[in-house]
Amino acid sequence: MPGIVIVGAQWGDEGKGKITDLLAEQADAVVRFQGGNNAGHTIVRNGEVFKFHLIPSGILYPGKLCVIGNGVVVDPKVLCEELDALRAQGLDPSGLRISANAHLIMPYHRLLDEAREARLGKLEIGTTRRGIGPCYEDKAARLGIRVQDLLDGSILKKKIAAAMEPKKLTLRPYERDPQLDLQSMWDEYVTYGHRLEQHIADTTSMIHRLLDDGSAVLFEGAQGTLLDIDHGTYPFVTSSNPVAGAACVGAGVGPKDIDEVWGVTKAYATRVGAGPFPTELDDEVGEGLRKTGGEFGTTTGRPRRTGWLDLVALKYAARVNGLTHLAVTKLDVLTGQPKLSVATRYRGNDEAVFETYPYHQSVLHHAVGEYEELPGWTEDITEARSESDLPPTAREYLDYIADFIGVPVALVGVGPGREQVIWTETPSVAVPTGAQA
Ligand code: GDP
Ligand code: IMO
Ligand code: MG
Repeated sequence: MPGIVIVGAQWGDEGKGKITDLLAEQADAVVRFQGGNNAGHTIVRNGEVFKFHLIPSGILYPGKLCVIGNGVVVDPKVLCEELDALRAQGLDPSGLRISANAHLIMPYHRLLDEAREARLGKLEIGTTRRGIGPCYEDKAARLGIRVQDLLDGSILKKKIAAAMEPKKLTLRPYERDPQLDLQSMWDEYVTYGHRLEQHIADTTSMIHRLLDDGSAVLFEGAQGTLLDIDHGTYPFVTSSNPVAGAACVGAGVGPKDIDEVWGVTKAYATRVGAGPFPTELDDEVGEGLRKTGGEFGTTTGRPRRTGWLDLVALKYAARVNGLTHLAVTKLDVLTGQPKLSVATRYRGNDEAVFETYPYHQSVLHHAVGEYEELPGWTEDITEARSESDLPPTAREYLDYIADFIGVPVALVGVGPGREQVIWTETPSVAVPTGAQA
C-alpha cells in the first residue's frame, strides 16, 4: 500500500515529470517501467530546469530510491551522462538502482533506427532516433543484451557478435562506422559496466519488499497512451506499452499492487512526430499555443504539433488505463483564448460520426474533432493556488473535462514551477509540504 501509477493520457509530454516530482516527495520509491531515453521529463524547481531521459523524476530528493525497471531500454552512454550531470550539479544519485534484466540500447540499434526512418522517407514515423524500436525488437527476438551482461565480459562479447550477425545486411551502409567495431564496442560497454555496477540490482525484489512493508511506490510512465504499441495510433507509436498495465510487467508487480492510476493531460493537446491528430490546429491559434506553451520537444527540440483538447481520446485513455485521478497541466497556457473548443466526438470521411475512439486506422486518419465551445478567461492564473483563486470559466472548463471523462481532476498545473499547482483532491500519499489541499 499504495502503488501509484502515473501515465501520459495523450501523446506524451503532458508534464509527467512535474507530477512525479510532486508526488515523489511523500513516496518511498519512484520506478520507471518502460520506454527509454526517447522520454524527456522536465522538472522546474526554484527556476532551475532539470531534464531527465532515463533517471526517474524522484532523483532530486537526496537518497530517494529511484529504479529503472526491467521494462526500460537503457542506453548506458546516456545514463552515464545523466549521472555525471547530476553530480556536476551537486546532486546525489546514490539512490539509483537499475534492473539487471533491463535491456541495453547498442550502437547498432541507434544506426538501425536512423536507417529505417531514412528508408521510409515521407512515410517516416518521426522517431526520436534513439534506437528504441530496434532494441525492443531484439528483446522480442531474444537477441537482446541485458544490463547484467555488462558484468560478464566474455558473455557480453558472444552476445554482441550473435546480435549483430543477422543485421549485417541492413547495417552494410555503416560497415566502416567505428561504432560497429566489435572490439571497441565491447571495450566501451565493459567500461559502462564498471561505472554502473554499484547501481545494478534485483530491483523486482526491492519493490516487493517496499510494497509488502506498506511503503508508497510511484510508477512513472513515459510517452503516452496514444503512443502505445497496442492501444495507440499504430504504426505511429513507440515500441513499448506506456499504459498503466505495463507498470506491472515493467517492474515485476501484480495488478493488485496498484491502488491509484493518475493520468496526466495537458489542458489542450500536442503531438511530436507523425500520425493522426484529430484536433490539430494548423492556424495562428495552434501557433499561439506552441509559443505560449513552449511546445518544443524536450528530447529532440522539434516543434510540437498543437491542437484543442480531445475528450474522445482522453475518455479512451481513461478506460484503457483505468484512471482514478486526472492531473490537468498547462491550464495557464489557455489564458487569453476568447473561446475554448473541446472535441466531444469525431466526424469521419463520409460524414460518419464517432462518439468513441475508432479502432480502424483509415477512420482515424480522416477523423476530425467536432467541438463544444466553452468560454475562456483573461485573468493571469499563474499565482492561483486553490480552486477558488481560478476565474469561474476556468473552473467550468475543468468541471466539463471531469464530467465528460468521469474521472476527478485531482491536480491542476498553472505554470512549470513545482509550486504552480492546485490540489483539488487529496491523494493517498500526503500532499507535498507547502501545497494546499
Ligand atoms: P513529460 O515528458 O510528460 O514529463 O513532459 P515534458 O517535460 O516533456 O513537457 C512538459 C513541459 O511543460 C515542460 O517544459 C514542463 O516544465 C512544462 N509544464 C509542466 N506543467 C506545466 C504547467 O502547468 N504550466 C506550464 N506553463 N508549463 C508546464
Ligand atoms: P515523454 O516521456 C512525446 C514519439 C516520437 C515518435 C514516436 C516513436 O517525454 O512523454 P520512438 O523514438 O519512441 O521510436 O518514437 O513516439 N515519442 C514521444 N513523443 N513524448 C515522448 O516521451 C516520446 N517518446 C517518443 O516523437 O512520434
Ligand atoms: Mg517529454
